[in-house]
Amino acid sequence: MSSDVSGVAGGFRSAGAKGSIRIFDTTLRDGEQAPGASLTIAEKLEVARQLVRLDVDVIEAGFPAASPGDWEAVHRIAQETRGVAVAGLARCKDGDPQRAVEALRVAERPHLHVFISTSEIHLQHQIRMSREEALAEAVKWVRYGRQELGRDAELEFSAMDATRSDPDYLMQVVEAVVEAGATTVNLPDTVGYAMPTEFGPLIRRAVDLVGRDAVISVHCHDDLGFAVANTITAIQNGARQVEVTINGIGERAGNASLEEVVMALATRSAAIGGHTTGVVTEQIVPTSRLVSYLTGFTVQPNKAIVGRNAFAHESGIHQDGVLKNPLNFEIMTPQSVGLNSNRLTIGKLSGRRGLQDKLKSMGFDIQGEALDVVYRAAIALADQKKEVTDADLEAIVGQQASGNVSLPDAPVALEGWSVTSSHGGSSQGNVALRLAGEALTAEGTGNGPVDALYGAVDAAVEPTLGWHPQLVDYEIRAVSGGEDAQGQVTVRARRSSDDGASESVTGHGLSTNIIEASLEAYVHALEKLLADESVTAATPASATP
Ligand code: KIV
Ligand code: ZN
Repeated sequence: MSSDVSGVAGGFRSAGAKGSIRIFDTTLRDGEQAPGASLTIAEKLEVARQLVRLDVDVIEAGFPAASPGDWEAVHRIAQETRGVAVAGLARCKDGDPQRAVEALRVAERPHLHVFISTSEIHLQHQIRMSREEALAEAVKWVRYGRQELGRDAELEFSAMDATRSDPDYLMQVVEAVVEAGATTVNLPDTVGYAMPTEFGPLIRRAVDLVGRDAVISVHCHDDLGFAVANTITAIQNGARQVEVTINGIGERAGNASLEEVVMALATRSAAIGGHTTGVVTEQIVPTSRLVSYLTGFTVQPNKAIVGRNAFAHESGIHQDGVLKNPLNFEIMTPQSVGLNSNRLTIGKLSGRRGLQDKLKSMGFDIQGEALDVVYRAAIALADQKKEVTDADLEAIVGQQASGNVSLPDAPVALEGWSVTSSHGGSSQGNVALRLAGEALTAEGTGNGPVDALYGAVDAAVEPTLGWHPQLVDYEIRAVSGGEDAQGQVTVRARRSSDDGASESVTGHGLSTNIIEASLEAYVHALEKLLADESVTAATPASATP
């Protein structure tokens, strides 16, 4: 049996962890399972690169057996990512672990993650197995993984719905999988049901049972708002891996948020057994903004650590106190999480190098062609706007990361539009666009200018494609303050021919003209729908953990 743990003050250090607690990021797997959060392969790669900058210990890249798109994403991330372990999830069911192993083999540090339910309710009503059968499957697939990936690979087993399982049976499973070669045993609070006072003792029991031979991990959902509290309690009771997501996104109410757990450890380490993580905390805000931008999931303003108001002091008493000494009202500095309030002065004569340095200070390491794209957009914006702020730059970087930049060989190019709209009447719009080289024009009417233009795009592409984008969601926000602020539009759309059966894609638009931003976002979504191979294929409901 592998003894992949080493002694540190207050417990065991997890293998491959940069601090005493191993940070297992599951934004690209559980986070992406949140309804409407689906990402393209290119977007997943962009998030994975940012997670490397953040210096997490493990990136759970997806669920390879769920769809060819998921397999490809895990495989590409395993191939291209270095300095971090890459995990793939698999049910303990013939076919799943084999697909995961195939996708992960190329990783520098493969981390196979297999799971099966252990609660009575799931055994009877979901997987329809007896306790003995589930235990046998768990052992079988842990053994398989160990045999396929060799002695040194990380092999994790999760007992799904652990917190609603009979604890005696759960401990039997935990012992058996460690005996079979699991190096990490994860006890998820799958439905966010546990109270910290119950979860702590459960984790302590598992640590006492197998903690010398395996890392005990936790994975907490937030249905009752206890995900972070349960995660911290678990660390205090001997867990050495925590499974978390950026901005807390995930199934239903989401998962424990990485930024909250990491900053709790950074700020209150002494109260949490002296534990540490290797996360580069200054990368937290850039990572949060990137994930929010690409998934289209806005972060609530009062969200701990990464919300726009998390460091804003409104009342006179607080402002006065912070000016006298920030420690009066701040328990951590905005800089420590990468929040940079400097204004950038950029004009037509600003240099590429100066912009690159500025982006670096904001946590974005951008080079080569990507830097050219951001530079051109920033200079163009400087022509239209009095002041280009950090928020503007962040939005431009997000635009570049999502692939929404005008390239000469793009499959769809917006060439012109006009719209008329008046109080009490309908709106008329027309668009001119190029679809795979063919020039198309059409008109549309609607109850507002955006509706009219979207109708015009639909009318232009329908005869060629046999479908048009169907809007699922539309959101607009001002990137920064002021009359000349840029409008950032995020839309979600799917093919009109899909009858709502497939995943939607996210499109982005950014402009000082909100009609232009709206149209750009719609055309971007159209482009993604056209690029079939890059759209994450729908995950069969039965395969979703
Ligand atoms: O919530 C859960 O139980 C999971 C497991 C697959 C780890 O996501
Ligand atoms: Zn989960």
